[in-house]
Amino acid sequence: MFRVARRPSATTIPMLGTSLKQTKKGHMYMRRKLTAGNWKMNGNRGLMAELGTLSGSQSADAPEIVICPPHPLLTRAIDATSGSPIEIGGQDCHAATKGAYTGDVAASMIAETGATFVIVGHSERRDGHSESDETVRSKAEAAWAAGLTAIICIGESDAERAGNDTLQIIAEQLQASLPDGATAENTVVAYEPIWAIGTGKVPTLAQIIETHDMLRGELLTRLGDAGTGIRLLYGGSVKPTNAAEIFQAENVDGALVGGASLKAADFQPIIDALAAS
Ligand code: PGA
Repeated sequence: MFRVARRPSATTIPMLGTSLKQTKKGHMYMRRKLTAGNWKMNGNRGLMAELGTLSGSQSADAPEIVICPPHPLLTRAIDATSGSPIEIGGQDCHAATKGAYTGDVAASMIAETGATFVIVGHSERRDGHSESDETVRSKAEAAWAAGLTAIICIGESDAERAGNDTLQIIAEQLQASLPDGATAENTVVAYEPIWAIGTGKVPTLAQIIETHDMLRGELLTRLGDAGTGIRLLYGGSVKPTNAAEIFQAENVDGALVGGASLKAADFQPIIDALAAS
């Protein structure tokens, strides 16, 4: 493990889980750290006890925390975290506002439960449900229209990484999946290498830094100042044992966590590592 120097151009002042930073041009901006848990198709009423444990253990300077349970559990999760700073999100939404889409859920339905986020474009949706970048972009727009923050996921496959195509593939995915009008309030971007999801494999810190720095550059080019405030999460086998190292990267503003978000005892050390970063 090695320590990466923070960029000399940025002054970091920890404030309630927030980094207040100064750009080279002297503008101040904030990116609140964020830990998001993606329960995927896991969970039942019993798992609400884990949310109760998490709710009771957050300090005032904790990062922002979002848990995304399966849709039937959204209301229970909202109840289980009521009065705590933990927010709730959906794992996917349809691009349409309503209609004959059996099995799908509109963004407004997720918002009506009291949820504030929704994941779109997770690789398990892109691969398992043939979702294109255009579909993901439409879903993000639907999320915004419902007042939700979209967590837009992108990531390269094993073969793309092996072929040294990662940066180009990821840049193209970002540009095609991100709608115009993205802001720090309505959008979070999660970089999740497909080969790292659920496998226990993680990119090296140098690879994470390279990808996230490139993504920050893409956001700035596309969105100007708004690109400064959009949070970039890393996802893929984040665990209590590797979180602190991953969070050393300047442009990693938090994590999207799958397996390790199912137990408070695993998720809390990741939250703590982010708060300490
Ligand atoms: P994992 O999943 O942490 O279990 O690898 C991450 C994700 O798919 O969001």
